[in-house]
Amino acid sequence: MILHLIFDSLDFKSWMVLILVLLILYDVFKNRNPSNFPPGPWPLPFLGTVFTEMDFKTMDKLTKVYGKIFSLRVGSEKMVVVSGYKLVKEALIDHNDGFVERPNVPLFNKTFKGIGIALSNGYLWRMHRKFTVSHLRNFGEGKKAIELSIQQECVFLCDAFRVEKGPFNPQVILNSAISNIVACLVLGQRFDYHDERYQNILCLDTECVQLAGQTRTQLYNVWPQLFEYLPGPHQTLFANYKKITDFLRGEIIKHREDWDPSNPRDYIDTYLTEMQKKKSDPEAGFNIEGLVVTCLDLVEAGTETSTTTLRWGLLYMIKFPEIQEKVREEIDRVIGQSRQPCLADRVDMPYTDAVIHETQRFGNTVPLGFPKLAAKDTTLGEYFIPKGTAVTTSLSSVLYDPDEWETPHTFNPQHFLDDKGQFRKRDAFLPFSAGKRACLGEQLARMELFLFFTSLLQQFSISKCPGEEPSLDGEIWFTYAPAPFRICVSPR
Ligand code: HEM
Repeated sequence: MILHLIFDSLDFKSWMVLILVLLILYDVFKNRNPSNFPPGPWPLPFLGTVFTEMDFKTMDKLTKVYGKIFSLRVGSEKMVVVSGYKLVKEALIDHNDGFVERPNVPLFNKTFKGIGIALSNGYLWRMHRKFTVSHLRNFGEGKKAIELSIQQECVFLCDAFRVEKGPFNPQVILNSAISNIVACLVLGQRFDYHDERYQNILCLDTECVQLAGQTRTQLYNVWPQLFEYLPGPHQTLFANYKKITDFLRGEIIKHREDWDPSNPRDYIDTYLTEMQKKKSDPEAGFNIEGLVVTCLDLVEAGTETSTTTLRWGLLYMIKFPEIQEKVREEIDRVIGQSRQPCLADRVDMPYTDAVIHETQRFGNTVPLGFPKLAAKDTTLGEYFIPKGTAVTTSLSSVLYDPDEWETPHTFNPQHFLDDKGQFRKRDAFLPFSAGKRACLGEQLARMELFLFFTSLLQQFSISKCPGEEPSLDGEIWFTYAPAPFRICVSPR
């Protein structure tokens, strides 16, 4: 009776206010945190902390306010961010099985569909990861074949540098060289640096990495059903991915035409054979779509990361010429000018090895790693993280952890050298992440970085261009990359 009277007395405006209050109460109730959940910025109703930028610099600032484990909420999806070597190690290594899954990120799910390697889970992920690791091993990773193919690419790279007269931005050339290593492994061929169709694919890929890191693009994750129909950078991202996957599908079709199972040429051929073997095991997901997405994983994850690291390397060499000089002195002493660098040289070149490691540490190429999901209820540090919560481990906070590094904010190769000038490993060196989800291309990437870096410095003196002062501050994409810069090279 009383309720009836209240309802009768409400006008339209009051109804609206009442509905809004009820919705807000529902939102608060639905998204309430369990006890001992990590603290974080106060979320807005429905939207959560969507206006908080999701880059590592913002995460660093929030760490200072809320501590090394804090939470955010994108829409109604909760996310926990973990910082500092000790806690990141606890999450990735001690709780390895706890954080081995990937969350569903709508922005990527549209293309990657939860299959392949990088964004898949469970049995399908385990089978694909195992298969790919074994392919990389058998097709030369850690072996002579891949070393030879990188050395061959070093010749093309140095030739392309030699052609440049005057200042130039090395990005496209480096990207072409690096991408050719993955192309050889996956597609069985390298591409000429002037191949327009392939260059277009590389540009689309670079643009994807740039777009994926932007907050405007990530808005798609808050309300995918709505943003699906709205214009914006997410649409460019999807269109780019479509063109890249069309290219890969075309390559797969060509492979099928002249496929000889007894003579596999590359990853695609080996995968086609695996598809036959796994016909009775559809859960393993070995099918053409799985192949397209896995190729995309390898091209994506294996090109931008290494190219960006090498760009950081060149940038540091022109900013710190005295360090470049010491690397060159070691190259001249150990390798000389009469032969190409090879992997066996690395043990005799601790200073160069330290410079490459410091480049990876200071460059901080994948600052937030890839997100994980708590596969079960877990206690991390002093906080409770319920099953199903997305967890981001900040690799940046590890690579710059003041408790681990003597001079975290200085480019200092001494971090990786002992008193006798010998190379020393550091526990907090985690640019490839750690645990079961760690980068599966680590060994390949380390070979590429050593051979490309030493080959370039063996052949060229590299310097800043007159009147230009490139910045050490990077641009935040999905990776953290140097702002475009130009170099001048003189053959030695
Ligand atoms: C300097 C170069 C590279 C860096 C810094 C790097 C870094 C990373 C990082 C931080 C992750 C995320 C790991 C995690 O979730 O905990 C990752 C994953 C991955 N990387 Fe790399 N990477 C590099 C090169 C490569 C190369 C050359 C390949 C392959 C050819 C590759 C293939 C992958 C794949 C497939 C994954 C997903 C692994 C999974 O989800 O199981 N990466 N990488």
